[in-house]
Amino acid sequence: MSKESKTYKNPPKKVYIRTFGCQMNVNDSEYIIGQLEQSGYSITGDILKSDLILLNTCCVRAKVEQKIYSLIGKIKKIKENNQNIILGICGCMAQKEKENIFKRAPYVDLIFGPSQLNNLIEIVNSIKSGKKQSIFCNNTTCFNLKDIPVKRESKISAWIQIMRGCNNYCSYCVVPYTRGPEQSRGVSEILSEVENLAQKNYKEIFLLGQNVNSYGKNLPESITFSKLLKLLNNTNGINRIRFITSHPKDFNFDLIKVIKNGDKVCEHIHLPIQSGSDKILKIMNREYNVNQYKSIIKEIRKNINNISITTDVMVGFPGETENDFLDTLNTFKEIEFDDAFTFIYSNRENTIASLMPNQVPLQVKKERLWRLIDLQKEISTTINKKLEGEILEVLVDKKSIKNIPNQLSGRTKTNKTVVFIGEEELVGQLVKAKIIKSDTWTLYGELVK
Ligand code: SAH
Ligand code: SF4
Ligand code: F3S
Repeated sequence: MSKESKTYKNPPKKVYIRTFGCQMNVNDSEYIIGQLEQSGYSITGDILKSDLILLNTCCVRAKVEQKIYSLIGKIKKIKENNQNIILGICGCMAQKEKENIFKRAPYVDLIFGPSQLNNLIEIVNSIKSGKKQSIFCNNTTCFNLKDIPVKRESKISAWIQIMRGCNNYCSYCVVPYTRGPEQSRGVSEILSEVENLAQKNYKEIFLLGQNVNSYGKNLPESITFSKLLKLLNNTNGINRIRFITSHPKDFNFDLIKVIKNGDKVCEHIHLPIQSGSDKILKIMNREYNVNQYKSIIKEIRKNINNISITTDVMVGFPGETENDFLDTLNTFKEIEFDDAFTFIYSNRENTIASLMPNQVPLQVKKERLWRLIDLQKEISTTINKKLEGEILEVLVDKKSIKNIPNQLSGRTKTNKTVVFIGEEELVGQLVKAKIIKSDTWTLYGELVK
């Protein structure tokens, strides 16, 4: 039969998937795509040509949830024009909203939460059998990704979820409700995944968890996050190990030793502070105070030269006064983070913080955000300036997004972006670059042969 005349009994179905939110969601989508491809689907970037539309959603802040609801609204037209398209909403917002989504958008066919990833084939079969308006949102009692096909976006750096869920119930946060209770993934499963990635020539692994410092707590084996890092550091082949997120309340000083002595463990810690005011940290239920946070930073910097420290911070938490905010500004001046993800507090229904008095007006929140961003920009620029003249190891991850011929982009061990001119074959390699120039976000280098 000639290629052109080939017909399929069951023509391959096309799936359009859009992912919102954090790296965990991105990695979940890699597993969703892996499983769908194995069951005969192919990926399309053209929503109009798809048979299945999946939105892998986030709801950590209200804005992203509104954006997703508005996208679901737009898809209504596409569904009206083609009744056969199946629309599925998965991920964190699906888990939080459940049947509310059907109420707001009755044309949605399918809802499943993050814990249902391993049941995707069953879910796909229910789609194929034409079952509509199904909800799959039960939490699971253990977390494994054993034998689940995965289609990774990158061939250089791989996300690895070492745990799922969260038990911390910070008073503002939806994650414990969307990703369920904290569950760690077994050590041997993680080790064999990393060995497998090393054989495929991956250079970097990125370990993911909402609070990696409490890794292992629910496992039968005796393991901690630091021990896991030590084991991974001994894996042949992988060059770099990164991880997020460390929670200050569970920060264990063993980790400092592992970063210092483990040649593959990158010199970068992301340690969300959230606020520089003890009063606010207490009502956030973060379980540390500013002094405790600062002593962790001091110990890290005392032991590890040139480590970069980044953070997450929120402004406008209920009850945050100008003085509380000044405490945050002063803490930032004192600590001098390499970089910070800055957020406006977003009121999430059913969280403890949403019921707190003294919600801060949006205008005040915005104004505080900009003051904090301006300060952080100054600090990041000064820190980057000090790197001019240094020769740094860079893992080249892509051609630079700016349309400059032969411009490549990569990351230092301290997670700073370096752009430089070089041949495309260098993508995926470790090179040395001399830093010539810098700005707030980027280092500009020259390849050192
Ligand atoms: N588990 C990580 C963070 C996960 S969510 C930790 O505990 O640090 C990522 C970031 O989103 C948080 O650090 C916080 O700064 C921000 N965030 C979470 N809920 C928020 C809310 N309701 N409003 C604004 N920012 C929020
Ligand atoms: Fe949310 Fe706190 Fe858990 Fe982080 S530790 S995911 S901020 S509840
Ligand atoms: Fe991530 Fe958003 Fe869920 S930040 S854990 S996808 S709510």
